[in-house]
Amino acid sequence: EKQGFKHFMLKEIYEQPGVVRVCLEAYTNSTWEAGQTTPPVNLDLDPSLYQDLQHIQILACGTSWHAALVGKYLLEQLAGIPTMVQYASEFRYAPAPLMANTLVIGVTQSGETADTLAALAMEQERRANLEPQFSPRLLGITNRPESSLGNLVDNIIDIHAGIEIGVAATKTFVAQVMAFYALALELAYRRHTLPESRIEEILVGLRQLPGQIELVLESQERYIEELAHEFGETQDFIFLGRGINFPIALEGALKLKEISYIHAEGYPAGEMKHGPIALLDAKVPVVAIAMAGSVYDKVLSNAQEAKARDARLIGVTPMDEKEAEETFDDLLPVPVVEELLSPILAVIPLQLLAYHIAARRGLDVDQPRNLAKSVTVE
Ligand code: F6R
Repeated sequence: EKQGFKHFMLKEIYEQPGVVRVCLEAYTNSTWEAGQTTPPVNLDLDPSLYQDLQHIQILACGTSWHAALVGKYLLEQLAGIPTMVQYASEFRYAPAPLMANTLVIGVTQSGETADTLAALAMEQERRANLEPQFSPRLLGITNRPESSLGNLVDNIIDIHAGIEIGVAATKTFVAQVMAFYALALELAYRRHTLPESRIEEILVGLRQLPGQIELVLESQERYIEELAHEFGETQDFIFLGRGINFPIALEGALKLKEISYIHAEGYPAGEMKHGPIALLDAKVPVVAIAMAGSVYDKVLSNAQEAKARDARLIGVTPMDEKEAEETFDDLLPVPVVEELLSPILAVIPLQLLAYHIAARRGLDVDQPRNLAKSVTVE
């Protein structure tokens, strides 16, 4: 069943190019070009969800919450819709004041996470019997349309990742992010917030991702396996990112915590100087996600500040970046893509790093201690 892989997690990491292909096939029109009358994206959602839309509220837990943070960036930047993301477990006990014309999205891989389901049910209940602009518009993003989530909401985006056995989410994270690209493009098209030529450009970029993920897997895995040997005694890691890759820093840290039991924190790189930089010394490696784009130079200079505190610096960087070669002690290069598309490539080396550090320590990667695949209790 593991098809020659040592663990399900590694197999699922390798399934990601295929999952991205399946999502693109399911969500997008492969022959669409700017100017064509048929839409570029079709998610088969009820059109009432989109009508007069003013706000989006996303509720999720864990890795799904990280996917939602990438989603917020896409929905705001591409479709121009103010978007809030909250932990479902927090929202339940301190819900935001009701806003009109709001799409409420629950993101849950399993479709069974108790807090996410309860937060959505609460939203449905408190919006019932109000004026029409407050009436509930619920959307679920899930890998299991036949789940409790499916019973609760009428509109679902299926992430088509196939069953995920490793407790640490990998391919389902990437698939959730793909669902957000599709939703953001669908909304951008309907609301005319982007020129069609720009939508076409993004779709062309998305279609190159599967091959680019394959390239990262082929070119990086052996190197990362070797690199993992160096962290046998390491007790703390810091992951830095900014903008659309800040959630990827959170996700890299969460993967490492879950399966290697190493303490790891993800930070927005610009926040380091407001406190966490005090943690740094030669014993705390820093992984910085420095993708080409608006914050590339900023992340590099944040990384250099860490280096000045003797931290070992690992950089997830665009391939062939000379400046990055000088800054980082170890490089995990990924193909150069526009910033908007970079999270899906940046997360791959971080998944491999967490996997190989845990496997090297001889830990039960697929069944980490204290964790369950779906958290059906509060
Ligand atoms: C992380 C992980 C958990 C889940 C979280 C939400 O690798 O697996 O953090 O992401 O428990 O689960 P779902 O998405 O099923 O609601």
